[in-house]
Amino acid sequence: MENRDVKLIEETLSLKRQKNAVILAHNYQLGEVQDIADFVGDSLELSQNAAKSEADVIVFCGVHFMAETASILCPDKVILLPDINAGCPMADMVTTERLRGKKEEFPSAAVVCYVNSSAEVKSESDVCCTSANAVKVIESLNTQEILFVPDQYLGHYVSTKTDKKMVLWPDFCPTHMRIKPEHIIQLRQEYPQAKVVVHPECRPEVIALADKVLSTGGMCRYARRNDVREMVVGTEIGMIHRLRKENPGKKFIPASEQAICPRMKLISLEKVLWSLEEMAPEVKVPEEIRLKAKAAVDKMMKIGRG
Ligand code: 13P
Ligand code: SF4
Repeated sequence: MENRDVKLIEETLSLKRQKNAVILAHNYQLGEVQDIADFVGDSLELSQNAAKSEADVIVFCGVHFMAETASILCPDKVILLPDINAGCPMADMVTTERLRGKKEEFPSAAVVCYVNSSAEVKSESDVCCTSANAVKVIESLNTQEILFVPDQYLGHYVSTKTDKKMVLWPDFCPTHMRIKPEHIIQLRQEYPQAKVVVHPECRPEVIALADKVLSTGGMCRYARRNDVREMVVGTEIGMIHRLRKENPGKKFIPASEQAICPRMKLISLEKVLWSLEEMAPEVKVPEEIRLKAKAAVDKMMKIGRG
């Protein structure tokens, strides 16, 4: 490790203690950011961790909707997002205006929103889900018709696991779109012993070629199994850092080196330190929206992991 990093890390950890802060990082964060975090996880695990945290300040190393979810769950804590431009482009694709229009078209449908959505969109939804519990959330609903926003691929994957009638919003994750069936076919030839694990945000043609479809947290648990020695990883490449660190001696092969989420990579060690020094940028969901969004998030939290 470079001297510069050692100094940065020392200053960050000391300031973190002074401010009674906790650092939460998503599995797609840069390795150096994951390594200074108190907890690294998938969207659901990070929300669960934020909800039970006793810290006064949460430094959220992830994207904007994740920091908003922490603000929804912990209104009394200061939620810092070290780079305010770290937004999820898929979450930004659905607006409340367009959602209201769609709800009028399908008045008897329950609205299920993927957690990758703004707090405002959550406030217009009946229940929230993550990639770790989408099927269980949808199966828990009494309604037969579901309006699912914004990820058409996660929605499509869920529709193959349930009898519900699913109306799918047309948006998608531009990072997971980069993983193509030909990548999987090629890697299966190169690594015939490898298990192929993909995220449900991948295209259906990629999902059809996988051994397992899992959230990023699910991938971490699956990788620990004794029968998994080699794994083709069909998600954002930040995932590889944690998998290799936790499983020395096993082989992890990214399905595509192009599967990079540029917004996730906006968070750096320097920005984590600056955010603690300046106590900014802060993410705070306005109370009126928070209360409505919380109803949708709470229902999901009660259901837990799928
Ligand atoms: P996970 O909840 O599986 O970590 O996914 C979050 C995400 O943004 C995937 O692109
Ligand atoms: Fe959003 Fe895709 Fe990035 Fe996840 S990987 S944060 S869904 S753009």
